[in-house]
Amino acid sequence: MDTTVTRSGLEGVVVADTRLSEVDGERGRLVVAGHDIEGLAGGTSFEALAELLWTGALPQAGAQGRTREALAEGRARAFARLEAAGPGRFADGMDALRATTAQLAADDGFDTPAALTGAVAVFAAAWARVRAGGRPVAPDRSLPHAADYLRMIEGEAPTPARAAALEAYLVTVADHGMNASTFAARVVASTGSDPVSAIVAAIGALKGPLHGGAPGPVLDMLDAIGEPDQAAQWVEAELAAGRRIMGMGHRIYRVRDPRAAVLEAALGRLEQAGVTGGRLALARAVERAAEGALRAKYPDRALAANVEFYTAVLLDAVGLGRTAFSPTFAVGRVAGWCAHVLEQRATGRLIRPASRYVGPPG
Ligand code: COA
Repeated sequence: MDTTVTRSGLEGVVVADTRLSEVDGERGRLVVAGHDIEGLAGGTSFEALAELLWTGALPQAGAQGRTREALAEGRARAFARLEAAGPGRFADGMDALRATTAQLAADDGFDTPAALTGAVAVFAAAWARVRAGGRPVAPDRSLPHAADYLRMIEGEAPTPARAAALEAYLVTVADHGMNASTFAARVVASTGSDPVSAIVAAIGALKGPLHGGAPGPVLDMLDAIGEPDQAAQWVEAELAAGRRIMGMGHRIYRVRDPRAAVLEAALGRLEQAGVTGGRLALARAVERAAEGALRAKYPDRALAANVEFYTAVLLDAVGLGRTAFSPTFAVGRVAGWCAHVLEQRATGRLIRPASRYVGPPG
């Protein structure tokens, strides 16, 4: 077969038709199942967003509780299997999440989006709790998913403002086109394998610093810079040393990632409620400096803030430790992974690309 590898990152290669989300990189737009992300993140619950992804429609008035109950049931079921999983033995939250999720079995009830989405929240929270020296906290069925996630980490129900900020984040990151972890989940689903295996593969892909592993390093960067007037000098030195600026650039967007603005707005609401991590002004200065320096270095390739940049600032303000950032990304994104698994299975088509042999002739 005579094929030529022209895009080893598969950029621009369409591998699926999807009804789930559209990423418009030129205009900086994200549409989730027919709804702009700006509207969704402004007040849609995580439960409603999950239902939108899993069924194609936001819940009708009066039917709001269905997904909430299913998620609560998923959390309870996962917690019942937690002790054996022992997330605390892992230093890294994504390692723990991958290992604990891998212990589940689809034929033990973990074959639905709600069961898996519930489980990821329980395991991510248990890891954060245990690493902080506590014991895992059982889920509370009466709470919404976002608030219960924070409660399972902290041991007490969060204030409405902090729960709302986290919920805006989870909604914002729940789905985003054919990103690397979603593709990984779809590849596994396409083989006819089970949903647990697909989600475990996706967690592994999300761990990487070029995908979901960036927000922790973004906060490290802000700490290293310290003051807004140091931003330009610091960024220049990083670029001169050949290092990447975390939280900047994107495979698809040629303008600022729309999710950065959505999260910045959520941060503003949080500040109005009197909750702040104290880093928003610094983050804005670093973003300006990084955008300018990257424009000077790559005049033909627009590199602007991506979702991870303000994820770091928002989750820090919500009160999460930086090691919990990537697992928390998974808590939101798992809703999208599950929807893509359903969509991929419905096609019945195995994903199996080709490679070009460049080794010695036989
Ligand atoms: N800092 C410095 N340089 C960057 C950069 C960044 N954040 N992002 C891209 N570049 C550089 C690349 O190194 C490349 O330079 P080169 O041609 O000299 O090698 C050039 O810009 C073009 O990169 P491009 O091919 O458009 O990037 P990509 O599509 O392969 O990468 C990312 C996209 C997200 C992996 C990349 O922008 C990145 O590593 N960002 C930092 C990590 C991050 O924030 N990840 C979260 C993504 S949501």
